[in-house]
Amino acid sequence: MTTVRINASDAVSIETGALIIGVHTTPEGPRPAPGGEGLDQALDGRLAEILTTMGFTGKAEEVVKIPTFGALPAPVAVAVGLGDAPEDGYDLETLRRAAGAAVRSLAGTASAALALPARTAEEAEAVALGGLLGAYDFTRYRTGGDRKAPVGELAVLSGAAGAEEAAAHAATLADSVALVRDLVNTPPSDLWPARFAEIAQETGGKAGLSVEVLDEVRLKEDGYGGIVGVGQGSVNPPRLVRVAYSHPEATRKVAFVGKGITFDSGGLSLKPSASMDWMKSDMGGAGAVFGALVAIARLGLRVNAVGYLCLAENMPSGSAQRPSDVLHTYSGKTVEVLDTDAEGRLVLIDGIARAAQDEPDVIIDVATLTGAQIVALGWRTAGVMANDDALREEVVRIAGEQGEGAWGMPLPAELRRGLDSAVADIANLQPERWGSMLAAGIFLREFVPESVQWAHIDMAGPAFNKGEPHGYTPKGGTGAMTRTLVAVAERYAGNGTSAQAV
Ligand code: BES
Ligand code: MN
Ligand code: ZN
Repeated sequence: MTTVRINASDAVSIETGALIIGVHTTPEGPRPAPGGEGLDQALDGRLAEILTTMGFTGKAEEVVKIPTFGALPAPVAVAVGLGDAPEDGYDLETLRRAAGAAVRSLAGTASAALALPARTAEEAEAVALGGLLGAYDFTRYRTGGDRKAPVGELAVLSGAAGAEEAAAHAATLADSVALVRDLVNTPPSDLWPARFAEIAQETGGKAGLSVEVLDEVRLKEDGYGGIVGVGQGSVNPPRLVRVAYSHPEATRKVAFVGKGITFDSGGLSLKPSASMDWMKSDMGGAGAVFGALVAIARLGLRVNAVGYLCLAENMPSGSAQRPSDVLHTYSGKTVEVLDTDAEGRLVLIDGIARAAQDEPDVIIDVATLTGAQIVALGWRTAGVMANDDALREEVVRIAGEQGEGAWGMPLPAELRRGLDSAVADIANLQPERWGSMLAAGIFLREFVPESVQWAHIDMAGPAFNKGEPHGYTPKGGTGAMTRTLVAVAERYAGNGTSAQAV
């Protein structure tokens, strides 16, 4: 695991494997950002010339390595683009991504110093966080070969007041994101519901969370028909995990509910193979909820927080639920299962109904729920729906501050009729595919008591990066929305950045 520390020393005198600096684009060519001036001097003022020769302009995330030939202790300098110089403060996500891209390019180097702009604690935290997230690698299933290890030790060069605390905060967040990425990347042969529950008990216990696991017998006895129905086709039975954190002085309670389908084959409504190979990521919501609770506990936030991991494996078999089966869900309502591939909403409604019994101030569910989210918003922008406009906009704003793409989406009333069932209270599928992200949201809302504020985050695209790495985001599991949930909890704890409480 990569470590980070704050170092107030001078960029050109620090003993390190590589020195990372930021570079801006200007009409006159690339120019060093604050923190990078020393390198320019050490190179006799020829940095711009070197960069231009290398075809480097300073565009965001552009990365180039320069040998220093003894001009400073670091044998290599890494220039990373920050785009145009900002008029006032730095956009924190620009810093996170630049740090991530630079650190990613340094795999195989033992240590690196980040001389990126870090004149405030916020900037120092962004640099530390981006660097740590960029240093992630998933190697559990590699048996050797020539893969280079990520940078082991990062130093963030900053003299800002509060930089140490900021770096510690970044490290806690990065640990949780790495935990979620590991869970998402783990093949479903090694992560089935009971195993996920065990990990929650072990890791959650160590972090100071109280963890309760309902097994398939309890789930049946207690009437969790949604989770039982989805899980009954698999030899790996379902689980509902409740992870809870409380603070003695807390005045507010947040509840998070995560979709935890450890593998989504579609069930009897089987997916085509091309849509199935990455469905190990269908537990990303439960991953984010768990990772967030771990971070909340480690940070000791002054809030009560409870997380529900709705865990099941969606498989076809002789015991699987059938299209047209009717489920008796935990809320008391019945659901006709028209399509067994619309399973996420079935496990979530049991989790949401259970979470409502805790009487939280807010419930937020996170799920890789619909392909329609990807159609509407692409790979990097989650859809946010809610039964309260202010809450929805607040969640979008908080996600944006973390650099996690999110956009508010409506829950149009006219879509409810499409979910009418001929036999049960509601069907899990509307007959047409248009607007399916919204229809899924409408479906969930039916199971939220009116007195409870609720938001739903559909992150089918953002949870898993099928493309190439970018910024601090690796291939595969991204850990999306983990940091957003922590920031929501911080907001309810009263140490958020916005003054007005939702
Ligand atoms: N897990 C999928 C959604 C998904 C698709 C996540 C692509 C990540 C990437 C979900 O369970 C699903 O199958 N949804 C169906 C719902 C449909 C049957 C109403 C979908 O979106 O096609
Ligand atoms: Mn599905
Ligand atoms: Zn699914």
